[in-house]
Amino acid sequence: MSHSKPTSRPARPFFSSGPCVKRPGWSPDVLKEALLGRSHRAAEGRARLKEVITRSKNLLEIPEDWRLGIVPASDTGAVEMILWALGGQRGIDVLSFESFSETWAKDLKNELKLEDLRILEAPYGQLPDLSHVDWSRDVVLTWNGTTSGVCVPSPESVPATHEGLVICDATSAAFAMDLPWDRLDIVTWSWQKALGGEAAHGMLALSPRAVARLEQGAPRALPKIFRLTNKKGLIEAIFEGDTINTPSMLCVEDALDSLKWAEQVGGLPALKARSQKNLATVTPWVEASDWVAFLSADPATRSCTSICLKIIAPWFEALSEEQRGKVVKHLTGLVAKEGAGYDLASYRDAPAGLRIWGGATVEAEDIALLLPWLDWAMEQTKKEFAV
Ligand SMILES: Cc1ncc(COP(=O)(O)O)c(C=O)c1O
Repeated sequence: MSHSKPTSRPARPFFSSGPCVKRPGWSPDVLKEALLGRSHRAAEGRARLKEVITRSKNLLEIPEDWRLGIVPASDTGAVEMILWALGGQRGIDVLSFESFSETWAKDLKNELKLEDLRILEAPYGQLPDLSHVDWSRDVVLTWNGTTSGVCVPSPESVPATHEGLVICDATSAAFAMDLPWDRLDIVTWSWQKALGGEAAHGMLALSPRAVARLEQGAPRALPKIFRLTNKKGLIEAIFEGDTINTPSMLCVEDALDSLKWAEQVGGLPALKARSQKNLATVTPWVEASDWVAFLSADPATRSCTSICLKIIAPWFEALSEEQRGKVVKHLTGLVAKEGAGYDLASYRDAPAGLRIWGGATVEAEDIALLLPWLDWAMEQTKKEFAV
């Protein structure tokens, strides 16, 4: 089938998997009331930080007895502070199945040099066998592998009772997928993903069991930026809006705008539905395509946020790894040059392919308008590369 050049473009051609597209209707005007040039420790600053915490807790339906805090260094900061504070207290199982989950596994092994560590691996496109996880140990679980488009299939995938703590990197799942708070103990995310916020600030949610474990003390010295406890126990103020170091009040204002938008469109059920609709827009196109397929073969583990696609055209599969990378660069470059879609190449460590962000801030109509551009660009690219 031949694909002529499309004539309509997505209104918002932003498909990056982070920082993700702003919410529909966003403009810099939403930042007008930001508390700039004032201390974040003043009553007004602290109130805004607390508001981010309260609104996030409500939206995500986090249990009342959990603590939620804003921490430095985005999702990476939130995950690392936990790995360094708890790693070695107990045996750990870590699931490694794409770039970020592999980073956590490597840090536990090579940096923290933990002895009692089991790394459960799976290649890009698959999830490690969850029946092999020993839930009596601490478990590091990335809920959605942003670079492979594979997610944990259901809230029941984690057993209701488990002796160890479940440490969940949910940065590309939160606000788009169900998170079983009663089965998790530590959950992290950032503002720059599903709500289209700004980078550099992390969110850390702790169950009462997680707090008790943190209060046992870290098996090693920690830098200030990672310290959640002092001699008296948990530093409760962090979970009331006192940050460890200085946050950007511009980003705080932006986060509040995203959270208010999320509430207005109908809260978590509406956010999940928007993301599901985005995946549902891509699915029939993939199924009808002769050149593209989902990287995640099992529909049950298919992500609705980071929609990762592999290229299955025989001429592409015959190319070297290096040539495949060039094909993807060419294809995505053509689409970007036309202003029809940006940041569509797969992650640098993932198999050469495409990735379309489908979180709640993306409009399904924009994805629908993008897809014919991909067909067109692939046809142009084939002319350059197929031998
Ligand atoms: C699963 C996962 N973990 C961690 C990160 C790192 O997030 P950040 O750059 O916000 O620290 C990302 C970023 O895309 C991610 O997708």
